[in-house]
Amino acid sequence: MTSTQFYGPDQVDAAAHVLRDGRLLAFPTETVYGLGADARNGAAVARIYEAKGRPSFNPLIVHVSDLKAAQAIGEFDENALRLAQAFWPGPLSLVVPLRRDARLSSLVTAGLDTVAIRVPAGALAKQLLSLAGCPIAAPSANKSGQISPTTAAHVSDGLNGRIDGILDGGPCQVGLESTIMRATPPTLLRPGGVSLEAIAAVFEDPILSDLDPDMPNAPGQLSSHYAPDAAVQLNATEAPLLLGFADVVGDLSLSPTGDLIEAAANLFSMLRQMDARAKDAGLASFAVAPIPNTGLGLAINDRVKRAAAPRSGGSSTGG
Ligand code: TXA
Ligand code: MG
Repeated sequence: MTSTQFYGPDQVDAAAHVLRDGRLLAFPTETVYGLGADARNGAAVARIYEAKGRPSFNPLIVHVSDLKAAQAIGEFDENALRLAQAFWPGPLSLVVPLRRDARLSSLVTAGLDTVAIRVPAGALAKQLLSLAGCPIAAPSANKSGQISPTTAAHVSDGLNGRIDGILDGGPCQVGLESTIMRATPPTLLRPGGVSLEAIAAVFEDPILSDLDPDMPNAPGQLSSHYAPDAAVQLNATEAPLLLGFADVVGDLSLSPTGDLIEAAANLFSMLRQMDARAKDAGLASFAVAPIPNTGLGLAINDRVKRAAAPRSGGSSTGG
């Protein structure tokens, strides 16, 4: 079996049918491709884990078309409203208390009484949400432990034949997953496409952060989440195989001009390319140039650090 391919705006309606039928559809958002299922359909959501080969049930992000649809699922206090108004549609997921009448499959929240919700900005994602007419639960559309896909071809590499359809909308604009924030007190759970600086500008008090790698209710924080096959060395300026940045010229460069936005957009695609080159060259590792820890650099370093984390096998629960 191969997954049905849908291309662009003309085929969104046909793609939305897949979701309405309780089947799995990979679709583009501005961050990365998501592996979507109707969030109210437990069997469909269960198949997400099956297709990904996820070793445990981690809570998923629920995608909706607007704030009103979000408020039918989660409780929005003043902080949550402030964040939603500032950054939606866009690459921010908000963790808020789950409404009792939300009617989501409990698999979506992995039994938690909170839910992560976001309103994606991509035009195709918006069209899909309105045509599907249901909240869409979607982790990144990769097999568990692999790098998040930023093109339909990446999705197909990992999941072709394991899912029902793939909606191709070209490469993702942001190229990093969404930032995840607990609304109250404002707490960063995962760095991502919206910078901490931009979020801090919305509040008077400093933003807390809860990035403890052992925190069980944010499994995406586990250091083994992102895992190329090759080992990865950090902060290198010279290596047999080097992913460059700014002045550090490598075999490939995340951004020759040191532009963090460009680097973020290139990150997953280039980690994949470096992994493939290492394999071709018979090298057990590749290295990554130093990246400043400001703006989107925080998220990039977080991703690269996970890619570099030693993998002990069996402890990965990441998405
Ligand atoms: O950009 C993105 O966020 C992409 C696109 C497809 O939207 N999605 C994505 O999903 O990255 P996933 O499943 O790979 O990561 C979801 C993260 C996990 O770290 C999970 O633990 C966290 O969201 N999460 C979900 N619900 C949560 C909750 N109620 N409390 C804390 N963390 C939660
Ligand atoms: Mg993921």
